Amino acid sequence: MCGIVGYVGYQNAVDVLIDGLRHLEYRGYDSSGVALYNGGKINVYKAQGKLQNLVDELKKQDPSEIKSNAGIGHIRWATHGVPNQINAHPQTCNCGGLTLVHNGIIENYAELKTELENAGCKFKSQTDTEVAAHLIAYEYAKTKDLISALKNAVKKLKGAWAFCVMHKNEPDCIVATRKNAPLLIGVGENENFLASDIPAIIKYTKKAIYLNDDQITKITKDKIEIYNPDLTLSQNKVEFLPFEPMALSKMGYKHYMLKEIHEQPDVVRNILQDKIFDEISDIKLKDVKLTKEEIKNIKRIQIIACGTSLHAGLVGKYVMEELTGIPVDVEASSEYIYRSTIADKNTLVIGISQSGETADTITAIRQVKEKGAHVLIITNRNESMLARLSDSLLHVNAGIEVSVAATKSYIAQLISIYLLAIFIAENLGKEKSILNNIKHELLLLPSKLEAILSNASHIRDVAKKYSGYKNFIFIARGINYPTALEGALKLKEISYINATGYPAGELKHGPIAMLDETMPVLAILNEGRVYDKVMSNCEEAYARQAKLIGVANYIDDKHKQLFDDYILIPEILDMVSPALNVTVLQLLAYYIAEYLGKDVDQPRNLAKSVTVE
Ligand code: M6R
Repeated sequence: MCGIVGYVGYQNAVDVLIDGLRHLEYRGYDSSGVALYNGGKINVYKAQGKLQNLVDELKKQDPSEIKSNAGIGHIRWATHGVPNQINAHPQTCNCGGLTLVHNGIIENYAELKTELENAGCKFKSQTDTEVAAHLIAYEYAKTKDLISALKNAVKKLKGAWAFCVMHKNEPDCIVATRKNAPLLIGVGENENFLASDIPAIIKYTKKAIYLNDDQITKITKDKIEIYNPDLTLSQNKVEFLPFEPMALSKMGYKHYMLKEIHEQPDVVRNILQDKIFDEISDIKLKDVKLTKEEIKNIKRIQIIACGTSLHAGLVGKYVMEELTGIPVDVEASSEYIYRSTIADKNTLVIGISQSGETADTITAIRQVKEKGAHVLIITNRNESMLARLSDSLLHVNAGIEVSVAATKSYIAQLISIYLLAIFIAENLGKEKSILNNIKHELLLLPSKLEAILSNASHIRDVAKKYSGYKNFIFIARGINYPTALEGALKLKEISYINATGYPAGELKHGPIAMLDETMPVLAILNEGRVYDKVMSNCEEAYARQAKLIGVANYIDDKHKQLFDDYILIPEILDMVSPALNVTVLQLLAYYIAEYLGKDVDQPRNLAKSVTVE
């Protein structure tokens, strides 16, 4: 939530900042701004709405005013204060000498605001961030040193922050710090960068330094200084960034979401390649640090996650319990935090997060670590905060995901869960033939995904037909119940259609009251344990005139007439079927939203990394 960038170097800062912000748009897009150091003063430009509005605003300026070799930029997802120009960042102190950008939330801003107002500060915005601008300026007035001012000011703050700060008396440098919000330093030649995330700087450098909580950095074009909280100098490691700039291109697709759905077969191949060699060899998970003995001692598994990652966790419950026999609880991180959860050294806690940055999940995992549980993180970002908190890591390796709606990272999470469940089961000495059969199915998955993608035009036709409906119900049973939840979430978030996922058997306990010809019901059917039961639920919906769409690997002739439309997927083992079924639902949601002309990659009110609780 919110993206920040900083640049000091030989290039025109505004170009680098705008380019960086463009690659952080997934973090928020309701307003944006830049501050540019310009001959002893700092010029600030801000605009409400999409980044393009800021670009248009900058075009109207005198070029000599926006020429600069040092600047900071921000793209906002509003928390405190409506998304307008005044509330956009950068925020400045009263005299305009100090300006900053912020990602995070200052929880005690109201008390601090009163204190600062009493000391004579005049507030212009409704943001929590403006408090920090006044507070740091107040401290700077005492010490005339930006590093000490920042250090003294953040001591008074509660919450989460990444700040980049400039002062008119400190030419061509940026001072920055972070706590519970991401910030990395991009190391260049004759230029250095600051950013919330890698995509903002990957075009310019592949070297980065990660700041620890409460460390402060000062960057100029040829120097990076890092200070510990006691202001002793620190030598943080320079790391190599794993991404290629190419990963940020749409590669000819209309939207990142469509491109990312189409990447799924390769994503699966990638994950499998160094973990399953054939169906009979044991699985290798090099960063899972659990010994055989520790695995034998696991008495329970808890999975914590949010949104789409939570749905992957729900699939995990079915897979893990079936293959390992260990009881599994799955919970939204935001709920887990606020009850007395039971975890100890015999508990394996699995945190799932695409970004590795989700605040709710970070808080929950921190709590669990104090209880002595082994923490295993499944993430797409192995440099993230959650990865750093882990005892064991499963990097899902899906490549950078730009679209706000998670697609390829979900499939990658599912595959990681299958691998982990098989790995635990193998270590527990469970029946090999069952495990080998699943490995066999996983190895066949990429070609089956390709078969679905080659049928995308049929899914697009179905999507067009149903794009006028205002409500949708998704039903399934067993391991595809989470698929129904995920299909409904995808549709909601990118098309704003009201869609709800239910266990099919629950339909008759209430939701059936809503069924008539205006309510499409999408049923997921897979040959296996619950096929006949779901078919009976489809009969019930049919009897209430609901429009029925089937997503199935098999529909017998006598039942075909129940369905207004159906989409057939390749034959697949029920346990692995969520990975195929969800691809159909992702495409369906995508084409409905695209047909309705929605902003598919940047749906309203959402941000990809939710770094506030
Ligand atoms: O990065 P995370 O996986 O922790 O993010 C969790 C959710 O915010 C995320 O899955 C969200 O629900 C997506 N927009 C789903 O498409």
